[in-house]
Amino acid sequence: MGSLRTQVGIIGAGPSGLALAQLLQLAGVDSVVLERRSRDYVLGRVRAGVIEQGTVEILRRAGVARRLEREGLIHHGVEIAAGERCHRIDFTAQSGSVTVYGQTELTKDLMDARDAGGAPPVFEVDGVVLEDIDRERPRLRYTRGGKANVLECDFIAGCDGFHGVSRKAIPAAVLKTHERVYPFGWLGVLAEAPPVSSELIYLSHERGFALCSMRSATRSRCYLQCELDTNIGDWSDERFWDELASRLPAELAGRVVRAPTIEKSVAPLRSFVAEPLRYGRLFLAGDAAHIVPPTGAKGLNLAIRDVDQLAAALVAHYAERRDDLLDAYSASALRRIWRAERFSAWLTSVLHRYPGRTSFDRGMQLAELDHLVSSAVARAAFVEAYTGF
Ligand code: APR
Ligand code: PHB
Repeated sequence: MGSLRTQVGIIGAGPSGLALAQLLQLAGVDSVVLERRSRDYVLGRVRAGVIEQGTVEILRRAGVARRLEREGLIHHGVEIAAGERCHRIDFTAQSGSVTVYGQTELTKDLMDARDAGGAPPVFEVDGVVLEDIDRERPRLRYTRGGKANVLECDFIAGCDGFHGVSRKAIPAAVLKTHERVYPFGWLGVLAEAPPVSSELIYLSHERGFALCSMRSATRSRCYLQCELDTNIGDWSDERFWDELASRLPAELAGRVVRAPTIEKSVAPLRSFVAEPLRYGRLFLAGDAAHIVPPTGAKGLNLAIRDVDQLAAALVAHYAERRDDLLDAYSASALRRIWRAERFSAWLTSVLHRYPGRTSFDRGMQLAELDHLVSSAVARAAFVEAYTGF
């Protein structure tokens, strides 16, 4: 049996696990990242793409923002459309901005940094089990290539996403979860086509929500609200672009470039919060701790802020022999998480078509959107939340 020792054992090589390992290494704390999937699988996932300025600053501090700052698109506003009306919400009055840069690219930058730091993740591990998380010396057992291994740690970071094992290691009597499952999903496509507009367009249409986003000046990322049981096989590229155009105001519909799609997938929408985020020497971060519906583009940003906070707490433990930040982690992260949950659930509720929606419900949604675009105070609250609190 292989036996290894590290200060922080990290489960999961998504953005949370990779960024945590990077921040810890820069502060002289060593870690080992265990990942269930292969490197190619992790690098191939297509996910979100809107990065708050505060997140960019963390990534810069982590030494992984060079390409993001060179290639990312800085946006100073978004468009909100309902029916034939389209309104721009400007971020500049509040000095706000976001950077549009694919999570796929960010994952690559983080992975390159781990390689350069001489500590790449251990890929294709199976059956990770957390042991003694409420004692001084927790352990991670796993197998790799059929061989049993044990990783002795001081702390364990559960960065293994919503379906991971670490949250489940917290005893049921301690763990509380809060959840809302939405009765629809998002059908997303990636295509080599110029975006419909230079900024993101969030649409609330009678037929359902749609989003026109992008990855570059020549690559579009678009989404349609869809049924949960949507079969991708039923959605030809033709049908996707037709449906998107039908939900856009006429003037914008004419700008849809019907290029062949490179990727097509359906994702369910969920709001989820676990608490506490600490049990003994286990700390949860990222999607292992919480899920937001993608409408507010908060998922990746929350994950990076979680691990920044957790890294600072772990560094204080080692460098200053202080545990107050570790003790405060759960409550203080949860407060930030619930605020992002509120914004994400609210934006989801005003933009989507719900089954059984009455004309009154629709009137309320349109009034909410009208208030958002016409009240300076409402716009300011939106900008504060969208660009990062
Ligand atoms: N053992 C080892 N690794 C695991 C296990 C396990 N039992 N279970 C899951 N993993 C790995 C997954 O394969 C994945 O690579 O943990 C990683 C978790 O990564 P993400 O799901 O990307 O979660 P996180 O790093 O927290 O990133 C959050 O991703 O889903 C988006 O919107 C979300 O942008 C946010 C970001
Ligand atoms: C994306 O570009 O993938 C994207 C953008 C904004 C969102 C969600 C996803 O709210």
